[in-house]
Amino acid sequence: MRERIFSGAQPTGQLHIGNYLGALKNWVELQDDYESIFCIVNLHAITLPQDPASLRKATLDLARIYLAAGVDPAKSTIFIQSDVPQHAELAWTLSCIARMGELERMTQFKDKGKGNTERAGVGLFTYPILMASDILLYQTDLVPVGQDQKQHLELTRDLAERFNRDYGETFKVPEPYIPKAGASIKSLQDPEKKMSKSDENANGSIFLLDDPDTITKKIKRAVTDSGTDITFDETRPAITNLLTIFQLLTGKTGEECVAHFEGKGYGHFKTELAEVTVEFLKPFQARVKEYDEESLKAILSAGAEKARQIAAETLRSVYKQMGIN
Ligand code: TYM
Repeated sequence: MRERIFSGAQPTGQLHIGNYLGALKNWVELQDDYESIFCIVNLHAITLPQDPASLRKATLDLARIYLAAGVDPAKSTIFIQSDVPQHAELAWTLSCIARMGELERMTQFKDKGKGNTERAGVGLFTYPILMASDILLYQTDLVPVGQDQKQHLELTRDLAERFNRDYGETFKVPEPYIPKAGASIKSLQDPEKKMSKSDENANGSIFLLDDPDTITKKIKRAVTDSGTDITFDETRPAITNLLTIFQLLTGKTGEECVAHFEGKGYGHFKTELAEVTVEFLKPFQARVKEYDEESLKAILSAGAEKARQIAAETLRSVYKQMGIN
């Protein structure tokens, strides 16, 4: 039996190069060696207000992005979270063993709730429990995600271990898979902040569907640090971030990248980075348009069918262990 990976992304805002380099790129690389399940987490999306028509469209568009990135429906299962009702059911069950204190420590809740716990939605607070349910339902071995999801993965492991201890061995305890390079791609406008879908400043992110002119302008306007060398240097986060993007898009090693730009200035570097990014995204964007709605829905419905079988089996044993049914 091959080991299993599970991951997902939210159909909110536009996906950016950070989502691709931190997550999707690794899904595609891992799908040959693991049994792979990739979910479009539309139930997570509604933890913040969404326009219904836009959410419906974004859900299908995200499936297009998965496919364009190289997730292969012949190898991997792709499905929409709400098509598998066991996610919400297990989330309720796990919410009965999760603790207020451990959820209060989640930094993403603090960020997204903007510190206003009185007004923040309850769903935003319990969001990590739904995420734990996504992962645990599939008896997942490995979860490829960016750095910002690490804390949620730790909670997932804690919940699995607690359940196994209190009710008997039921869940596999999953490991995170966080890439060495690209786990936290930073904003082009502020290298102290991660590149984020919800950033008000669109110049901070390269969106996967940006046109060539926009990409080139954003890279030209990217902030730089003091100093002139094009090298990886912890004390110069802006150039380190841009060089990391260059490295991951070209597949070169870090040393090769540094050697490539030796003696060259920022102007030259940014021009080349813009070219590489545009060349990478062109065929990607062409692939996004390849799927008509009918074939997309067929892929998603086959995916949901497969996912439901695994999810139903896990939920059955959870209920049995707890004395439900
Ligand atoms: P989401 O939709 O915010 O992001 C999708 C994936 O992209 C990664 N990512 C980044 N990686 C590198 N640099 C960045 N700047 C960057 N920004 C985002 C994220 O770490 C993520 O891997 N809660 C999750 C979705 C989710 C999930 C799951 C993931 C729900 N259930 C189960 C894995 C397993 C989220 O909001 O990701």
